Amino acid sequence: MRKSRKRNGRAGRLLFTVVLLFVVLCAGFLLKGRISPFFDKLIAGTITGDGNDATNGGVSVEKNNTEKNNADSDTDHINNNINNNKDNKNDSNNHDDPQNNQNNEHQGNSNDRQPAENVDDILVLVNKKRYLDSSYKPNDLVVPNVKFSFDEEREKKYMRKEAAEALEELFERAYKEGVYIFALSGYRSYSTQKWLFENKASEIGEEKANKIIARPGESEHQTGLAMDITSQSVQFDLKTKFGETEEGKWVKDNAHKFGFIIRYAKDKEGITGYNYEPWHLRYVGKKVAEEIYNKGIALEEYLS
Ligand code: DAL
Ligand code: ZN
Repeated sequence: MRKSRKRNGRAGRLLFTVVLLFVVLCAGFLLKGRISPFFDKLIAGTITGDGNDATNGGVSVEKNNTEKNNADSDTDHINNNINNNKDNKNDSNNHDDPQNNQNNEHQGNSNDRQPAENVDDILVLVNKKRYLDSSYKPNDLVVPNVKFSFDEEREKKYMRKEAAEALEELFERAYKEGVYIFALSGYRSYSTQKWLFENKASEIGEEKANKIIARPGESEHQTGLAMDITSQSVQFDLKTKFGETEEGKWVKDNAHKFGFIIRYAKDKEGITGYNYEPWHLRYVGKKVAEEIYNKGIALEEYLS
């Protein structure tokens, strides 16, 4: 009697195990279609930490990354600039500052926004009122033989030939005098500028973004005549305090000798429409740069 109960118990456990195995196998077949692609992707490394699924968003993610790479330092400088300006009484966001409200006729937002003229001229005026076509790209872009703050081959290493040669002379003199500056951001395509502006505008709103970054078509970087420079003393970044460093002061006092102007000067925010940018060098040629420097005027004033 006890033996037969034992036998029944064993048979029951065997049956339970068989049924359990059957259920597990059935579930496995049913789920196979869903689980398999997940593991395939995991193995292929396409499921990334930030949740981008390359099968759906790979193309646009890659495009965005390219544009971000072209613009990354600039995005950083915008963040730094915003922080610096919180404490800066000369901040152009301070609308009570009469200096910032003077000569607003030079700024955009008016009906006389027009295409830039003589776009290949060294003295081309590009600002909130004079814009470049989205297809405009200078045809003599070269990489200046100067030290950059990064090693990779990027669009932003380029400048127009004449400006690049002048930048080389400026860097050579600076290094001879023990002033170690680094190039950070030169030519920028319309699409890179668009990415930069839209990205920042989505964070802080268009009006604030447009104090520190030009709308697409309105940036001097698209002319290939501008170069942002930096130094170790500002962690190879673009910060307003660069203007107070040994390197920033040297550049302010010497750039004109090589044909460059500090395009967005501290006391010209009301004219340029942009916050002070001690790092943004614009090539205009030696004669004009010296006149602009000696008279302490903005490019808009020189050309008007
Ligand atoms: N930061 C300057 C104004 C530009 O975006 O061109
Ligand atoms: Zn710049």
